[in-house]
Amino acid sequence: QVWNPNGKYRVVSTKPMPGTRWINLLIEQDCRVEICTRKKTILSVEDIIALIGDKCDGVIGQLTEDWGEALFSALSRAGGKAFSNMAVGYNNVDVNAANKYGVAVGNTPGVLTETTAELAASLSLSAARRIVEADEFMRAGLYDGWLPNLFVGNLLKGQTVGVIGAGRIGSAYARMMVEGFKMNLIYYDLYQATRLEKFVTAYAEFLKANGEQPVTWKRAASMDEVLREADVISLHPILDKTTYHLVNKERLAIMKKEAILVNCSRGPVIDEVALVEHLKQNPMFRVGLDVFEDEPYMKPGLADLKNAVVVPHIASASKWTREGMATLAALNVLGKIKGYPVWSDPNR
Ligand code: DGY
Repeated sequence: QVWNPNGKYRVVSTKPMPGTRWINLLIEQDCRVEICTRKKTILSVEDIIALIGDKCDGVIGQLTEDWGEALFSALSRAGGKAFSNMAVGYNNVDVNAANKYGVAVGNTPGVLTETTAELAASLSLSAARRIVEADEFMRAGLYDGWLPNLFVGNLLKGQTVGVIGAGRIGSAYARMMVEGFKMNLIYYDLYQATRLEKFVTAYAEFLKANGEQPVTWKRAASMDEVLREADVISLHPILDKTTYHLVNKERLAIMKKEAILVNCSRGPVIDEVALVEHLKQNPMFRVGLDVFEDEPYMKPGLADLKNAVVVPHIASASKWTREGMATLAALNVLGKIKGYPVWSDPNR
């Protein structure tokens, strides 16, 4: 699909993206916009090299694509100066290779913070209250009357929520769980989450002033402390060599037998084979997963487990957010082409 065929700058989007704001922005700045509409979900390096062609000023790409040496050299040969991932995570992008070929890289932080945190909260609740199991039971026509023991789950109020990685998304999730469900907080992050701590302290004082049980918070000295103490744990680190299989067999073993583990970051942060085994051995342990180690596949056995809620990497999938991500991605590419600052540059 081609917009503004006579535009001076050629910008390629490897996928159709929501809304028209991003297209209009590019057109207004004299870009010819080419959108790949192939049905194939995951494009290979060769597919993208063909899209780049002989002349390309910038590309908007997706987290499913392998943006390494081969693509950045092809883009630079075509005269390209800018690439933007339509995602906040950029573990699929080799920033060093981009630097080597003089291609500026952008990502899309900020606009997806609340949407992603809301999905992490939804997965926490779905796992705690066994929503998916109960839904399947209803649809199977098995409900034949109220019973005291039917789908008994966990009450979140007064339990402890654990957050690993208290950046933008982790902090937003923590606030939702503390304020929404009056959970106590324990978190682990390499940096101090001062704003989060101020919020929880003020909220605890508010509860106290209103005669309610105040919530508590603690900054853990180690990740294991969070895993040991929390009832619901949500993972929000970036994926790199240091966070690969951060949650492994040994770490699963120190968690509470009835804990809930949520992952909306990247699949390889959890050793999924170890997780499947742990879920089989501990039926009261539950997970809510948005991401998987070998996406789009799940490790054998996971799909059969009742104590797992699984969704297809949709944490940022609200209309407002996805349109915002597309717009930021376009602004990133435009910035470099037109000589403005790249809106969001992970090198900064
Ligand atoms: C991201 O942005 O990194 C998410 O995984 C997709 O929105």
